[in-house]
Amino acid sequence: MTTDKIELTREEAESLINEFGSPLYVYDEEILRKRCREVRSLLSYKGFVPNYSAKANSNMALLRIIHDEGFTVDAMSPGEIYTELKAGFKPEEILFVSNNITYEEMELATSLGVHISIDSLMQLRMFGERHRGGEVAVRLNPGIGDGANDKIITGGHSKFGITIDKLPKLFEIARDYELHIIGINQHIGSLFFDTDTYVEASLRLLEAARSFKELRFIDFGGGFGIPYRYRHLEERPDLQDIGARLEPLIEEFVSAYGRDITIKVEPGRYIVAECCQLLGTVTSWKESFGEKYIGTDIGFSVLMRPVLYDSYHYIVPYNAEEKEETVNIVGNICESGDILAKERRLPKLHIGDIIGVRDAGAYGYSMASNYNMRLRPAEVLIDRKKGEKRLIRRRESYDDLLRTMEGL
Ligand code: LLP
Repeated sequence: MTTDKIELTREEAESLINEFGSPLYVYDEEILRKRCREVRSLLSYKGFVPNYSAKANSNMALLRIIHDEGFTVDAMSPGEIYTELKAGFKPEEILFVSNNITYEEMELATSLGVHISIDSLMQLRMFGERHRGGEVAVRLNPGIGDGANDKIITGGHSKFGITIDKLPKLFEIARDYELHIIGINQHIGSLFFDTDTYVEASLRLLEAARSFKELRFIDFGGGFGIPYRYRHLEERPDLQDIGARLEPLIEEFVSAYGRDITIKVEPGRYIVAECCQLLGTVTSWKESFGEKYIGTDIGFSVLMRPVLYDSYHYIVPYNAEEKEETVNIVGNICESGDILAKERRLPKLHIGDIIGVRDAGAYGYSMASNYNMRLRPAEVLIDRKKGEKRLIRRRESYDDLLRTMEGL
């Protein structure tokens, strides 16, 4: 039986760090596949195809596993399209969910045979000018959103999508340029737990879908939360409940629509977050202003989420201490905001001890940077069934930092 999240023993954590360096992203293939299968079984509708949102993690080795599990993929940029094609996705398995793109980016995707979802009436016109008679999808905004915080709620009041009241105008543009609108998609936001808003938004999308005559797919979006604070199932959104509530709505829609329709959902985080722990090393400690700071090599150049969204990640201490204390775990970046975990009760940590940051697989490496000219870490994939571990991205070198600079 697989667990819900990657678990490592102290010996494993130490030996991984010794072999691949610190910090280090470690992924467990079995858990990744388990999550893929859970999402695959969300709907029994025969035209259901889960679409992985690759912005959460675009490591090619993980993309290949997700593809192998029967997923198609979305892309947010030509760079993601490029990576996905290299990973083995066919152009028709990629949906470019665009936002404020240039003509050149449109042309690039179209020339590769990748369908684009267009995010505004203005960009639909841009597309039509170059591709009269072409096939295109549109992103709708159902007017409601959900998610962990304002920065990641996308449905309702936000920059995303074409609102439903603009449909008459949308059809006018489509007619002017003889466009075939072959798909509609939405994404109401990220990291939600309650299923009601997602189901309500899906219902709104299905209602809107009735006025499109040539749809081949409808994509309800992603955003399914994962339990960052707990180890087990307490906070997980009930995917079965979503499935059970959507299934009859979809069947009813499809039989009235009279055409075969592919139904998609588009999770990123749910697929990749929990199969990964980010390992790092304690480098220092100090007491200041009555607080204890544990310094580590996990700065926000390695994991941005806590700084950007105040996100909570559970910290696993890999040491043998029993005595606990309350500490702030901080990184090595020159900003006061560089705090990985605030006021945590943890066993006393010593220099050289390893810590693990849980649920780092989504928006971890994909949002890492070279800020402060820090090197981005390596990524390792372990396969417990085969007893194997594989380096799937090497650690950057100092030469990598200078690679794109001119005139050296
Ligand atoms: N589809 C679209 C169009 C999206 O914009 C997103 C996420 C997804 C799908 C996948 O959402 P997910 O299932 O992963 O929640 N950096 C933030 C999350 C930003 C999500 C942006 N869009 C974080 O670390 O929490």
